[in-house]
Amino acid sequence: MKIISVVGARPNFVKIAPFIREIEKYNNISDNNIHNILLHTGQHYDDRMSRAFFKELDIPAIDIHLGIGSGTHAEQVGQTMMAFEKVIRKEKPDWVVVVGDVNATLACSLTAKKEGTHICHIEAGLRSGDLSMPEEINRIVTDRLADLLLTPDKLAIENLIKEGVSAHKIVFVGNIMIDTLEANKNKARKKQINQIIRNNLLKKYVLKARVPSDGNFTVMTLHRPSNVDDKNVLKSIIRFIMDKAAKELPLIWPIHPRTQKQLKHFDFFNEISSHENIILLEPLGYIDMLRLNMGARIMLTDSGGLQEECTVLGTPCLTLRWNTERPLTLSQNGGTCILTGNDIENIKKNYYQALNRKREPQKPEFWDGNTAERCLKAILNYKQ
Ligand code: UD1
Repeated sequence: MKIISVVGARPNFVKIAPFIREIEKYNNISDNNIHNILLHTGQHYDDRMSRAFFKELDIPAIDIHLGIGSGTHAEQVGQTMMAFEKVIRKEKPDWVVVVGDVNATLACSLTAKKEGTHICHIEAGLRSGDLSMPEEINRIVTDRLADLLLTPDKLAIENLIKEGVSAHKIVFVGNIMIDTLEANKNKARKKQINQIIRNNLLKKYVLKARVPSDGNFTVMTLHRPSNVDDKNVLKSIIRFIMDKAAKELPLIWPIHPRTQKQLKHFDFFNEISSHENIILLEPLGYIDMLRLNMGARIMLTDSGGLQEECTVLGTPCLTLRWNTERPLTLSQNGGTCILTGNDIENIKKNYYQALNRKREPQKPEFWDGNTAERCLKAILNYKQ
């Protein structure tokens, strides 16, 4: 069997790593031979957003790099499709495996379907209901085209059934990101907060804050267009962290390239970088980020993956979005996250409540570190 596994952007690397390890394990048994081609579209290209993850998650070298890079959505998707079509025609894989909801996921699914290749979507069935999010468009189209839809939870199955997907295409496998979390928890535990901060300070930024200890800091990440592309929205979040959150606890903020660009563009950057209790870092590697999450008192984030990791680690989390495609992470469903949107009064109220919440780790069904095994089994057992 020949598979092309596709990655394009940071969250994909965390999801593909355990799948590739599972293929290697399978191939170690005599007579088993899956030929896996690892393909990177190049959507994320900075070392810190890409290469660093391959190294620390032990992902083998990329076999094919499309080198697409930045661009508008149409440019990213269009150029990826043109390049990927050539690859499919040459390699003739049995399966294209895509993960998550980034532009690479959409572009490669569309191409594979048009070339008559089977598509397996890992992390199928998530829906935010918000079509203004590029990721929601990517999820819906990918799931419409996929032949095998592997879901992280049972709510995702319900979403797919409601959309008319036939049940025989859907398999509940659990959350593959948690495989990576479980595999790296012990390594993360050995890291020192102090070292993480000193090794990852943002370029040209001088640290003013005292380095915090475990349980005594907030971590924030922000990258969604809805939070960082609108000046007024970004401004109100910045005012909240500068005037409130960072007055309570030191706030550690690894800054996504998109956000850094926007902070400079809107002229907020200097004020933030001179705040005496905000610590600005470059985008972090997986294990460093995991370690910060394990030690944080509160997480403020608009990332989907971090909401899930907070739930498993028990970190109280304010989700700076109006909706989520991962309802299992919400406190009303047993998770540790609260949706606050970008309404400052709402964020404030929940932030002060979260300050007093205890860390309560959760274990949703099949978020157990063995999802990749179930994914590969589903592909091997697939019947049309
Ligand atoms: C993408 C995904 C999002 C995911 C996020 C994680 C889509 C539609 N969005 O958003 O689902 O949660 O990645 O990080 O696929 N840039 C760099 N260096 C890089 C990568 C990007 O400087 O290595 C810059 C680009 O020039 C661009 C901006 O960051 O201006 C945004 O990158 P892009 O890939 O368009 O989307 P993300 O916001 O990263």
